[in-house]
Amino acid sequence: MRRRMLVAATSVVGAAGAGFVAVPFVASMNPSAKARAAGAPVEADISKLEPGALLRVKWRGQPIWVVHRTPAMLEALPTQNSKLVDPDSQLATQQPSYCQNPTRSIKPTYFVAIGICTHLGCSPTYRPEFGPADLGSSWKGGWFCPCHGSKFDLAGRVFKGVPAPSNLVIPQHTYLNDTTILVGEDGGQA
Ligand code: FES
Repeated sequence: MRRRMLVAATSVVGAAGAGFVAVPFVASMNPSAKARAAGAPVEADISKLEPGALLRVKWRGQPIWVVHRTPAMLEALPTQNSKLVDPDSQLATQQPSYCQNPTRSIKPTYFVAIGICTHLGCSPTYRPEFGPADLGSSWKGGWFCPCHGSKFDLAGRVFKGVPAPSNLVIPQHTYLNDTTILVGEDGGQA
């Protein structure tokens, strides 16, 4: 009994202690500093990103994908156009103007997108393989959303006949050097 009380007393002190530590820290950040920290750009190091692989980083609490597209993946993009809702990325809200091109990217090899389905916000699954049994022989890589079956190609362009209405959103980004992408800032290029 004594022992249990001791344990209880210790955890109360512990909790109160944590509270005292947290308060001055939060108070030292004014609201605009907090907002800036939450929206601050993030760097993606692509130096070890293998051809065909996908890298995930987080920006503003959202998953950001960077895919290293292979030559075969890039060749497949135009073959999908007739099956897509917006093959030419006409809907301006879905990408910065410098990504309104056939590969929806600054450099064709690297594709950057916000990994959130434009239907109801699930995170689609990366399916880079060509012609898998469950997606069919005409599948040339892309994303499949497990929530309601939306499909996107390897430029994040949505296929016709699925619930998602528009292409995946591409965040503003820029290259700091050949192997570092800064997500969330583009120096006003858009
Ligand atoms: S949330 Fe992706 S298909 Fe509905």
